[in-house]
Amino acid sequence: MPNSTKRRLPFYRRAIYRVILSAQRARIYRRLAERLRPRCVISEATEDDLRAVGLWLSAHDASPLAPVHPGVRNYAAKSATRVVGFAQLVHNERAHAAFAGYWLFALQVRLLWRGSGVGTALCQEVIRQATAEGAPSLSLLVSAANAPAIALYRKLGFEVASTPALDAALETDTTPPDRRRIAMSRPL
Ligand SMILES: CC(C)(COP(=O)(O)OP(=O)(O)OC[C@H]1O[C@@H](n2cnc3c(N)ncnc32)[C@H](O)[C@@H]1OP(=O)(O)O)[C@@H](O)C(=O)NCCC(=O)NCCS
Repeated sequence: MPNSTKRRLPFYRRAIYRVILSAQRARIYRRLAERLRPRCVISEATEDDLRAVGLWLSAHDASPLAPVHPGVRNYAAKSATRVVGFAQLVHNERAHAAFAGYWLFALQVRLLWRGSGVGTALCQEVIRQATAEGAPSLSLLVSAANAPAIALYRKLGFEVASTPALDAALETDTTPPDRRRIAMSRPL
């Protein structure tokens, strides 16, 4: 998102966010969060859910959603009617060779819900659906600096993937160096 449209949070909110993010690095926080969080349900996102996700993500510097087409399935994690997490399964049939196949895309969990198992549940749903569609493997792109996401993906069996086509495509990545992305993949 261009800087001009990025919403800058007030200092005190950024400080609170930093404290929460740092607490979430502790396993004990995550075990407590898992026990205490309200029930949430994963299902295919409705149009209302997608509108809510669009508003939520546009307030952050997050990847835009893949455009809706028959190869995209959207999943929402909801507590009552509130969307607290989101992920996409994207089947690229005719994409550039490097990006063909099944991809987990746009995984996001709201800050206060992180560490409580929502991200895991969303990924498991995407893995389940990709398996049901006969996908041989599931791939994703993640910033090399995103330790929580990489830990989650490793826990679910993803490993860093490298093919000449992927490496060449990622070489031309225009994302800033501190957000350089790597590909990960897991067989299904
Ligand atoms: C990455 C993200 C989706 C993880 O979702 P989550 O709901 O917090 O993840 P879970 O609670 O299911 O955690 C599962 C595992 O992820 C890892 N993990 C999660 N948060 C972590 C943290 N803050 N520090 C280190 N590891 C973490 C742990 O291995 C954890 O398993 P454990 O608790 O048994 O050790 C979430 O942090 C998020 O929305 N981040 C911002 C958006 C983003 O980076 N998306 C990824 C795009 S590729």
